[in-house]
Amino acid sequence: MAYSHPMTYGADQVLTGSGNSDYERYIRTNELLSLQKGPDTWGHRDELLFTVVHQSSELWLKLAIAESHEIIVRLQAGDISSALRLVDRIPMCVINATQNLDMLEKMSPWDYQQVRRALGHGSGFDSPGFNGIRAVIPQLGVEFHRLLNAEGISLLDLFVHHEKHDQLYRLAEALIEIDERMINWRHRHFKVVERSIGLHVSGTQGTPVEVIGQLRDKSFFPELWDVRTEITNYALKDE
Ligand code: HEM
Repeated sequence: MAYSHPMTYGADQVLTGSGNSDYERYIRTNELLSLQKGPDTWGHRDELLFTVVHQSSELWLKLAIAESHEIIVRLQAGDISSALRLVDRIPMCVINATQNLDMLEKMSPWDYQQVRRALGHGSGFDSPGFNGIRAVIPQLGVEFHRLLNAEGISLLDLFVHHEKHDQLYRLAEALIEIDERMINWRHRHFKVVERSIGLHVSGTQGTPVEVIGQLRDKSFFPELWDVRTEITNYALKDE
């Protein structure tokens, strides 16, 4: 049986704006799809692949930042339960941005050299998405520690008595999940960069690729990693 669209094409549309349908008007596809250079201005056709990967990453990070701000407001109001309902979205945004990186490895290293000429001094250091993440994620940590102090317990207490402090414990686990997903992104990014341009060279803003390698395990919440060691030592103490 031939596939046919269940809705009549061109059915009554109710929204105003640019586009032939409410779908195009609401999603703003005309604007969105004109945000990439066309073949007439490409130096190389892989500029489209490169742009789509970066633009979609910026969108996922935009969502992660917006959710983080809302979570901060909810935590400031002491409402951990409603903050927890949103918090898993952040690592999921980061996972999507990480998955996105795979596409860059479908580009040949030589073709990337042609794409690179179009970038000027454009560098991930100036990514609004990553700079926004770098600014907002530590604020989540500030709220977490404020709530922990209000309970009057240490991080070790929280983990040992996690069932008693269920919501705060789940918040701590959500924060380390964000941290780990960001670390995974950096590891993936480093390998994509090495595979694309090599190790002993510098980027468009002059940073040696080796430096990205050295920074990949940088953590927003080192204390949440360190407490694991404390837990092990604490558990072994009584043996
Ligand atoms: C072929 C693809 C890519 C290459 C060759 C590449 C290369 C580089 C290089 C060499 C640097 C060091 C800074 C510099 O001198 O420019 C860098 C940093 C960075 N890039 Fe990329 N990049 C690629 C894709 C991406 C993508 C898709 C994103 C996501 C938006 C991204 C985000 C970043 C960020 C945030 C930094 C700052 C360092 C950090 O936070 O770890 N890059 N990149």
